[in-house]
Amino acid sequence: MTIIGRATAQAPANIAFIKYWGNRDQALNVPQNSSLSMNLAGLYAETTVIWIDEASEDRLALNGDTTIGEALARVSAHLDVLRQRIGFRHRADVISSNNFPMGAGIASSAAAFAALTVAGAAAAGIDLSERELTTLARIGSGSASRSVPSGFVEWHAGNSHESSYAESIAAPDHWQLIDVIAVVSGVHKAVGSKMGHRSADTSDLQAARVSGADVRLENCRRAIVERDFAAFARVVEHDSNLMHAVMMTSRPPLFYWLPPTLTIMEQVRGWRAEGLNVCYTLDAGANVHCICTADTADIVRNRLMEMSDIIDIRSASVGEGSRCI
Ligand code: DP6
Repeated sequence: MTIIGRATAQAPANIAFIKYWGNRDQALNVPQNSSLSMNLAGLYAETTVIWIDEASEDRLALNGDTTIGEALARVSAHLDVLRQRIGFRHRADVISSNNFPMGAGIASSAAAFAALTVAGAAAAGIDLSERELTTLARIGSGSASRSVPSGFVEWHAGNSHESSYAESIAAPDHWQLIDVIAVVSGVHKAVGSKMGHRSADTSDLQAARVSGADVRLENCRRAIVERDFAAFARVVEHDSNLMHAVMMTSRPPLFYWLPPTLTIMEQVRGWRAEGLNVCYTLDAGANVHCICTADTADIVRNRLMEMSDIIDIRSASVGEGSRCI
């Protein structure tokens, strides 16, 4: 067996301010609405892809353990997408690790599939545009498209594989926001987002959420460009609430919140009423992402530390995109 090529990439997790929930094309992850996020500096997946001539199957080592089953199947399916684009048949060894808990509201699949895409292409020796890398990453995990470009990133919904891509709208240093993540659960969520996207249309509220998404995204983009925290907080909390309303009213319903989740959300609203620049947003999990300006982050962290039921607190500033190392 011969090694054809090898590369390692690092890709950040990201937190969405305007959420992606529900697909127009399930197989390609072409979403029903555009979304907007920031990359999380220091919370990343690091993935090595080694293309091997004459190997009979793909292999995956995840966080140090040889992994089979669903995780390998999803990686292998994504390698098929890359093989088709690159035009070869080799199998690969994939060695990947995360430095944050998986499946608990910090988008591990986004970092994982962005890193896999960037490393896989580089290991094959082909130089793809950033835009194309975002479309390929998207097929592995929708939100992975937003972990490829740098800083604040908009994923244009589009209506086809080529037109559904992500691009940076502002560099990491444009606005010093910090995501202070209150981890209230480290367990792997019962219903992953893959199934969740499929069930979005079973909620009567999904059509309303989607129809207002462009206006919310425009408001959010403007708030970021103008560094207007009050406007930003309004639209970010509203968009998160809308997504969770859809989740809770899907059939069967999806409740990701735990009791401390709601307690923290209430506290954050109260702190903002006091004048602190902080707002909350949640992904498909119970952890609360407290987005604040850099000068407010220590106060928010200290207040969270005084609360019970929080098992960990992580902080991340706005991060760069994916890169080969
Ligand atoms: C709630 O991108 O994780 O985090 O494509 O099935 O991997 P798959 O879904 P994924 O969905 C993320 C949903 C979300 C909101 C968001 O990040 O926009």
